[in-house]
Amino acid sequence: MSTRIYTLPIEETGWHVPSGGTTAFSWDYDEGRDRLLTLYEKGKKRQWNAAERIDWSQPVDIDDPLGTPDEAIAIYGSPTWERLRPRERAQVRHHTAAWQFSQFLHGEQGALICASKIVQTVPDLDSKFYAATQVMDEARHVEAYSRYLREKLELAYPINPHLKALLNDVISDGRWDMTYLGMQVLIEGLALAAFGVIRDMATNPLGRAVNAYVMQDEARHVAFGRLALRDLYPQLTQAERDEREEFCVEACYLMRDRFTGEEIWRTLDFDADECIEYVERSDTFRQFRGMLFSRIVPTLRDIGLFGPKIQAAFADMGVLGFEQVDIEDLMANAQSIPRAAASTLACGANDRAANTPRMPSRPSWSRSR
Ligand SMILES: [Fe+2]
Ligand SMILES: [Fe+2]
Repeated sequence: MSTRIYTLPIEETGWHVPSGGTTAFSWDYDEGRDRLLTLYEKGKKRQWNAAERIDWSQPVDIDDPLGTPDEAIAIYGSPTWERLRPRERAQVRHHTAAWQFSQFLHGEQGALICASKIVQTVPDLDSKFYAATQVMDEARHVEAYSRYLREKLELAYPINPHLKALLNDVISDGRWDMTYLGMQVLIEGLALAAFGVIRDMATNPLGRAVNAYVMQDEARHVAFGRLALRDLYPQLTQAERDEREEFCVEACYLMRDRFTGEEIWRTLDFDADECIEYVERSDTFRQFRGMLFSRIVPTLRDIGLFGPKIQAAFADMGVLGFEQVDIEDLMANAQSIPRAAASTLACGANDRAANTPRMPSRPSWSRSR
């Protein structure tokens, strides 16, 4: 797809990263931790086919692909936005959705690579088993997002430089726990919240369905990271835990403050500096981005990376309150499929019965807060 719909030619944006790490074999085929093996069983049972499960014949209006309120657009209310004619606002909606789904797509490729690296580097076989199911999940996510961009939006953006820098740090670190921490806890935790916002706010059924089904898998991936790190981190020295906390603090600030949509404003030939400044100063947008930490904060607390530095950073970001969030509750919410999304199922009844989880019984987190 890429050569036709990208805002930059892929020849200019290809990427190769030296990635350290030691390949670990294990001859212990007998023992396995129950919770990890249960997750592995779930991973096997809940495989789905993106080509069949999602009804790709659903239309998408390119002028308003997701049908979310304009208030969700980063520059909504800015001088630039106020100057725009209806045709240009439609373009902003199209490009914003393409940018967002492109970052999902590139992040998913990062997850595919990280999951396969975990298979290689993690010492225990039960973790290798589970990570192997995640590899397949991530390939499916890459398939779904790339198809959505190619067939429905016909526009894609290169990877955001800040997401790229974060992925670079995660992939080039040879320590297996850093792959988990960077990918399963931070990047996937943030992605899970972002997918949830679209699943719960979008009115276009296809956009909702793609995110709802991907979310179900992601909830297992975040759980996998939690299980693995919860066992490891209490065994590390304080200095080793401090180093990881510092990495998290830096990554969280980056994820909150640096995704200003700069590429969109430059591509559309707007006054990019004015747009970025507006986004950086916008309290609404900052609060909205803060919501994206609803998974990360309780997960870091749960795995034992919650020292004074990290708490101070989260207090400064106004997201410390999320430490009280019940992770099990959030994960149950991630498993739900909204009615509009469920109605786009294209598969047979048997497949549906086996794979569709129960409907949510309470309002989603994004509406309840
Ligand atoms: Fe994924
Ligand atoms: Fe994932």
